[in-house]
Amino acid sequence: MQGINFPSQHKTLSFVFLCEFSLFQSGGPEYDVPLGRRDGLNFATQNATLANLPPPTANASTILRSLAAKNLDATDVVALSGGHTIGIGHCGSFTERLYPTQDPTMEKTFAEDLKGICPTNSSTNTTVLDIRSPNKFDNKYYVDLVNRQGLFTSDQDLYSYKKTRGIVTSFAEDEALFFEKFVVAMIKMSQLSVLTGNQGEIRANCSVRNSDNSYLVSEVEEDLETKSELR
Ligand code: HEM
Repeated sequence: MQGINFPSQHKTLSFVFLCEFSLFQSGGPEYDVPLGRRDGLNFATQNATLANLPPPTANASTILRSLAAKNLDATDVVALSGGHTIGIGHCGSFTERLYPTQDPTMEKTFAEDLKGICPTNSSTNTTVLDIRSPNKFDNKYYVDLVNRQGLFTSDQDLYSYKKTRGIVTSFAEDEALFFEKFVVAMIKMSQLSVLTGNQGEIRANCSVRNSDNSYLVSEVEEDLETKSELR
C-alpha cells in the first residue's frame, strides 16, 4: 500500500455511483440503483480509505478475507475486480512485479512491454488496466487474466488462486454471467455502511452533495421568490 495512489474514485463515498456511470457509458450493463441511501457530507479520510481497501499488491486470499468482512463473497470479489476492464494504473501500482525480480506468473511479452512503459521502479508513467479493450466495459479483463496479462497482483492472483480461478474462467467464457454478477455485487456494495437517522443526507444527485448542487439551490431560491410574490 505504501506510496500507492488510488484513483479518485476510490477516495470518495460516491465511488459506487461513479463506477455505475462510467460502466454504462462504456458499454457495461445498465441497472437500477436502490434510491434513498443517506450519504456522508465529507470525503472519506485517507486513513479510512486505506483501512478499507486492499492494496494492488495484495493476493487473492488477502482480498477475499478483507472483503468478507463486508459480506462480499468470492463471486462478488471477482466480479467487482472486473471494474478494471476500463481505466489506467500508475507504474508504482505494479512495478514490484517487475523489479528486482520479474513475477514468474506474468506472461513474458507482457512483462517486457510493461518494462518499456516503466523502465525503473520509480517511473511515474501509466498504462491501461485491460490490454485487450481498455475503453470498453466487457469481459476481456478476465481473458487477460487467463492469459496471465493482469496488471496488478490483486488482479492476476484471482486466476492463480484455486478458490477464484473457476469464477475467472466462467466470466472469461460468459460475458452475460459477468454482467449479472457485477450488478449483484455493485448493489451489495452500494448498501454498505449506510448512514441512518440524522447522519448525512439523501442526495438529489448521487455524485454531488446537496450543498454543492447548484440546480437544487436555484430551485429553493425560485420557491422562495414565488412565495414572496404570493404575499
Ligand atoms: C479488489 C480491490 C481493488 C483493488 C486492489 C484496486 C486497485 C486499484 C488501483 C491500484 C488502481 C490504479 C491506481 C493507479 O495506479 O493510478 C485502480 C484503478 C481503477 N479501479 Fe480499482 N481496485 C479494486 C477494486 C475496484 C472496483 C470494485 C472497481 C469498480 C467497480 C474499480 C475500478 C477501477 C477503475 C475504473 C480504475 C481506473 C481509474 C482511472 O482510469 O483513473 N476497482 N484500482
